[in-house]
This record gives sequence, C-alpha cells and structure tokens, in this order.
Amino acid sequence: MTNLLINVDHVATLRNARQETFPDPVHAAARCEHAGADGIVFHLREDRRHITERDVRQLAATVQGKLDFELSTEEEVVSICCDVSPDLATLVPERREEVTTEGGLDVTANADRLRSVIDRLYDAGVEQVSLFVDPVPEQIEAAAAVGANTIEIHTGDFADAPTEADQRAEAERLATGAQAAHEAGLRVHAGHGLNYRNLSRFQERVPHVQEVSIGFAVIARAVLVGIDQAVRDIHAALHQH
Ligand code: PXP
Repeated sequence: MTNLLINVDHVATLRNARQETFPDPVHAAARCEHAGADGIVFHLREDRRHITERDVRQLAATVQGKLDFELSTEEEVVSICCDVSPDLATLVPERREEVTTEGGLDVTANADRLRSVIDRLYDAGVEQVSLFVDPVPEQIEAAAAVGANTIEIHTGDFADAPTEADQRAEAERLATGAQAAHEAGLRVHAGHGLNYRNLSRFQERVPHVQEVSIGFAVIARAVLVGIDQAVRDIHAALHQH
C-alpha cells in the first residue's frame, strides 16, 4: 500500500497571512493523522514564509506517524534538521523568488554539497534521506551515487500537462524514472501537484511508488469541506486500486 503523507505548509501560510496563531499546522497535522494520513510533511524554508522553527519543534514532538522534513542545503536549516532527526529528510532546491518548489535538484552539479549534507543527516540518526529529482536518468543515478537511499520524483510536469497526450508522455517519463530508481536500489516517493483528479491516473501508470506527499490540493479542499473529509477523500482516491 502506498503511504499517504500530508504537507501542512499551507495551514501555516493561512495563519501567517494575518500574523495570527491560528490555524495551527500542529493541530492540522493531528487531524490529518486521525483521518488516515500515514505521516506529515513540512518544508522549513530559508525565509520561514510558512512553517517556523516553533512549528518544527512541536510537529516533531507530536506527530505519531512518519515525519518528513523538507529542506534545502542551507546551513542553519540542515542543523535544525539534524537536531530534530525526523524519520525522513527530503532535500529540495529552493529559490526565494519562487511561489513553490519549481523542479528537481541538480544533483550532478551539486554532488559534493549534497554528499556532505546527506552524510550529516545519517550521522544525526535520520534513516531515510531522499532527493527531490525530475525523472531524468542521470539525476536519479547521481542521487544513488551521492548516498541518498530514496528519491522523491517530481510530478509537477505531469500535474500541469495541458493535454491528455502530454500527461501520458509525462507519466511515461515518470514510469521510466521510477523503474530506474528501483533498479538502482532507491526507494521511490512522489509529489508535487498531485490531486483528487490526477492521482489514480498517476498510480495506474507509474510503478514502484511507496509514498506520496500531497499538500495544496488537500489544504485547499479542507477550506471548503473540513480537513478530516479532505484527508479521507484523498486517502480513498489513493487506495481505490
Ligand atoms: N513534494 C515536494 C518536494 C514539495 O516541495 C511539495 C510542495 O511543497 C510537495 C511535494 C507537495 O506539493 P503540493 O503542495 O503541490 O501537493
């Protein structure tokens, strides 16, 4: 069964829009878990635009299932991640001007820095270290070479594909990438832009995916139907096969 991890960043986005103390991503995380999520994801960005260090500490203390700490290789954030020692650390590229993560890491160009951060994370007791990568064979091979034991394959182009044919082509790229990662001994996660409509098509076409990380679609639906229902609906979509 594919694990469902819910990203609670946008609960914090809403809170921060009014510089308030609510809604609290820590409360949201607990409700997500009660509604069937296997774990919680957050991204501590360098600019702290949504999740804060206080959120990280409280999520680490309260999340019962799997905790996925998304981070860049920036020094301070790496130190916090080592201190928290989550179940999973997912390294992502980060640009301050971006609205959201725009694509996978360039692992080949940043191999030395990534290797040293990955080693520090393992030394701090993090068992699973994942690199967010596009479905590009050289990047996937490089992820294994720098010591990651997992990749999160970037599904943004699949999610944004303008036509059915484009979506099919993107699914093929993802399937080839997932197969290559599996053969290289890497665990395969997936995320970005997955939602209630595209999830089953993604699952039909892409093998070896052990875990999905879904944020915006679930938090957006939660505004209208409540977070319990939103999580139950995505859980049902994920497990309808
Ligand atoms: N995976 C990674 C690496 C991400 O950066 C994000 C966005 O924060 C997600 C998954 C979740 O994407 P979405 O919010 O579109 O579901």
